[in-house]
Amino acid sequence: MKVLLTGATGYIGSAVTDHLAAAGHQVVALTRGPEPQPGRTAWHAQVVGDTADPASLAGVVTPEIEAVIHLAPPSGDVDVDTAVIEALATPLRGTGRPFVYTSGVWVLGATGEAQEVGEDTPTDPIGIVGYRPRIEQRVLAEAAEGVRAVVVRPGIVYGRGGGIPAILVDRAREQGVPEYYGEEGVRWPMVHVDDLADLFVAAVERAEAGTVWHGVGESAVPVRDLARAAGRAAGVLVAPQLVPVEQAAQVFGELFAGALALDQSVSGAAARTVLGWRPGRPSVLAELVSGSYRPVEVFGAPEGPQTEAEVAAIRRLVAEVEHAQQNELVDRFLGVFRREDPVWTTGHGNRLSGFEEIAAFTRKVLPGAMAESTAVYDVERVLFLRPDVAAVNVRQQPVLPDGTRITDRPEGRPFYILVKEDGTWRVGAAQNTVVVD
Ligand SMILES: NC(=O)c1ccc[n+]([C@@H]2O[C@H](COP(=O)([O-])OP(=O)(O)OC[C@H]3O[C@@H](n4cnc5c(N)ncnc54)[C@H](OP(=O)(O)O)[C@@H]3O)[C@@H](O)[C@H]2O)c1
Repeated sequence: MKVLLTGATGYIGSAVTDHLAAAGHQVVALTRGPEPQPGRTAWHAQVVGDTADPASLAGVVTPEIEAVIHLAPPSGDVDVDTAVIEALATPLRGTGRPFVYTSGVWVLGATGEAQEVGEDTPTDPIGIVGYRPRIEQRVLAEAAEGVRAVVVRPGIVYGRGGGIPAILVDRAREQGVPEYYGEEGVRWPMVHVDDLADLFVAAVERAEAGTVWHGVGESAVPVRDLARAAGRAAGVLVAPQLVPVEQAAQVFGELFAGALALDQSVSGAAARTVLGWRPGRPSVLAELVSGSYRPVEVFGAPEGPQTEAEVAAIRRLVAEVEHAQQNELVDRFLGVFRREDPVWTTGHGNRLSGFEEIAAFTRKVLPGAMAESTAVYDVERVLFLRPDVAAVNVRQQPVLPDGTRITDRPEGRPFYILVKEDGTWRVGAAQNTVVVD
């Protein structure tokens, strides 16, 4: 399909562009100016229009446009946004072609006691999205005019190092303490930007006219947990701090602060069941702790998706070291080592040679070892010595069981030689060095 995409240069629009192109569609990007946009090689064509000026959109939906995805944000003026819908949808009338409008879960308001509310829940918008349900209704009314009108409501979007979680990371870095807002117990529905892009592709290809879909991968993530993970991404291992909404308003403005403090539990089950959507990217906590919000230095391999996938697999292995250690899971800890002749020199200089020696040591020391303190492990550098052999520098920081840094205890600098065998990375050799200065 030839798809006109507004907001194509944005956070979500960039991912939607990639996924539409990968699914064989042609993206016609609507941009505010005629300047060529660097890096937009996935675009089939570029047209100029400004969603703050509906008259500028006349003629952008030509007869060859087979679908429209409207991702550019609202203008703040209900009449302008209504006129934008009319300008973009009217040329599709009577064609049965899809018009996908992007709303958001904030139109539902606080979901209260209800768990995982669905698309049939009445809207109750918070201030920042005040008139958006009216725009949704205006869009859906196009179904009666022969347009395959569809509304997608994303949760809070994360991934590719961006979105609102990036604000949490930046704030933690600036303030030296991770923050969350409003009241204790606030939860956000979350979606990975690449999973969301898959949903847009599914919506444009097969959602029925007049339907609404929640783009939500995780229905209710406690924002306190998000804040802690954002602190980890920022290198700030201290307990998250609750910031009252009035105080947050001084930083973010009243409307955005109200949105950050909103407690929601929203279901994305309908899109899975009906559209076959399969959100499967890493969870927001994993993404913050060891994904795109914390890039690693990579050497010895060409940039590209293959290397990214290998680095992600290596980070998962190191996350497994951390998880197994923190939870005293002996078998899982041993599972990270290759069977054949691994060698591990501990932070105390104790050299263990061979799997049996490592296993005996682990069985002896790990159970009970984490009662008072544990450690977090962050991959800092990966050098591919060969495509299947990597030298990995890790930062190990001692923490209390609640994740806060034990300041008077030194860090470690584990160094791993990893080997990929039968498609799986494992530790072939490991050495830990305590940082003394
Ligand atoms: N991010 C989230 O967590 C989230 C959650 C739920 C819903 N949403 C909704 O999803 C949509 C996209 O969000 P996003 O996070 O991708 O936003 P974003 O990164 O700010 O991108 C906005 C895009 O819209 C374009 N745009 C802005 N004003 C325009 C105008 N007057 N005319 C034409 N294009 C214009 C921008 O183009 P330029 O390059 O020219 O600036 C950019 O491509 C929005 O409607 C937002 O409300 C987002």
